[in-house]
Amino acid sequence: MRSGWDEVMAGFLPAAQSGEAAMLTVAEAVCGGPPRRVLDLGGGPGVFAERMATRWPAADVAVLDLDPVLLALAAAAAGDRLTLHRGDLEASWWADLAAAGPYDLITTVMTIHYLAADQARALYRAARALLSPGGLLVVADLMPEPALTGVMDRLHPAVDEAVAGLAWTRWWDQLRADASLEPLMSERASLLRDRVPAEFTPPVDWHRAAARDAGFGEAGVVWRWGAHAALAAVA
Ligand SMILES: C[S@@+](CC[C@H](N)C(=O)[O-])C[C@H]1O[C@@H](n2cnc3c(N)ncnc32)[C@H](O)[C@@H]1O
Repeated sequence: MRSGWDEVMAGFLPAAQSGEAAMLTVAEAVCGGPPRRVLDLGGGPGVFAERMATRWPAADVAVLDLDPVLLALAAAAAGDRLTLHRGDLEASWWADLAAAGPYDLITTVMTIHYLAADQARALYRAARALLSPGGLLVVADLMPEPALTGVMDRLHPAVDEAVAGLAWTRWWDQLRADASLEPLMSERASLLRDRVPAEFTPPVDWHRAAARDAGFGEAGVVWRWGAHAALAAVA
């Protein structure tokens, strides 16, 4: 039921495959091999998490998300390979995970822009607390660099928000047509009714400062495509 997710996400995160490859390669280098405990925040239907579980078969890979429908799709497709947590990144999501950690790798892809600045800072602090010493946080999202984006946008095709938005709507319409998902769809609708994504997309320097303030050591960009980037921070 989650087929087509990668195609939909590619509309929002161009060159996602190269970003993913960079993130995973850096994670292995920083962790000195395959990470053993991994947490993907805002991992949705678990597509990326499942690829990590395939690449690192000995790893425990967990997903945290708010959306009951996406978590149900993750459970149906890969529930035997992933640990699924329902949690809200706008609230104290880390409280239930302290016992499950520490993690070697925490990732969050195209999710932090849903959060307001103080919630995003809290994510950095909580990730730092949940990581083992030397563990890695990777945050991938829109992180425009004013000096660079002009050039990079000319080199890299920009995201067409209208096309991506239409694909997103169609994907959800397809799920709505499945009667078995109706109760979860209703739950999702009431959960999201009053939520508006913050669309907070500060430049990399903001993320680097948030990582430093949260107690991370080194932090740097490991991938960029136009206005999108992935920042890695070492605990
Ligand atoms: C654009 S999707 C990206 C999903 C996944 N990371 C990927 O790249 O395929 C954003 C994800 O963030 C989740 N999300 C948004 N706000 C959240 C919150 N407050 N708490 C937990 N998850 C949230 C959504 O449910 C969704 O799964």
